[in-house]
Amino acid sequence: MIDMHCHLLPGLDDGPVTLAEAVELARVAVADGITESVVTPHVHPGRYDNHRQKIDVYLRAYRLALAKAGIPLVLHMGAEVRVSMESLDLLKLHQVPFVGEHRGMAVLLLELPHSHVPVGCMQLVDKLLQMNIRPLIAHPERNKAVMDNPRRIEPFLAAGCWLQLTAGSVTGAFGKAAQKVAHQLLDDDAVRVVATDAHNLTTRRPELRPAHTWISQRWGGDVANDLMLRNPRQMLAQRTEAQPL
Ligand SMILES: [Fe+2]
Repeated sequence: MIDMHCHLLPGLDDGPVTLAEAVELARVAVADGITESVVTPHVHPGRYDNHRQKIDVYLRAYRLALAKAGIPLVLHMGAEVRVSMESLDLLKLHQVPFVGEHRGMAVLLLELPHSHVPVGCMQLVDKLLQMNIRPLIAHPERNKAVMDNPRRIEPFLAAGCWLQLTAGSVTGAFGKAAQKVAHQLLDDDAVRVVATDAHNLTTRRPELRPAHTWISQRWGGDVANDLMLRNPRQMLAQRTEAQPL
């Protein structure tokens, strides 16, 4: 399986603090059946001031540490980008890594706040699409406004956004409300990717298998494989380092 959203790099955000913990996270991922991970540190100007060059330095060090530990996890650079005008400025400076590419469009993992859907969010989405960037909305099922009214996600789908669910939402680890929305979105065939959004070894582990089993039982093995293997693989296979701006 391929994990398109996880915080494995140490010291960059609210993911692992130490390199030792980060190495253990990779060990857990491999034991779960994950062969490739797109590492997605938060890019949240003013809170987590990460950018391409900085992430690259940390990623290289992490790759070396995994090689030394004999852990066969293939790593790709990515980022989880907060909805904000400052993020747009960073994008224009080519300092925001994408998580993949699809039919000539770069795919950007875009994070909404947990509490609400900001005013102006759709304008930002439109701007991104005009820039040939397809937003992949990170875990919409965990957004409070979407949990209160799942129809809040419809404008994003209509605009052409893709959706990423967190694996733990599918199995109920984020509560009944998030699980209900996650299942509705799966029923509607509105999901592109299921990913771990792993942060640590305790509450937010890099494991896809439980969600894969759950989805296989309810929606079929092909759906589970599409969400955790084929769609991610397609996005990574078409990926180039060229920036679309
Ligand atoms: Fe995340």
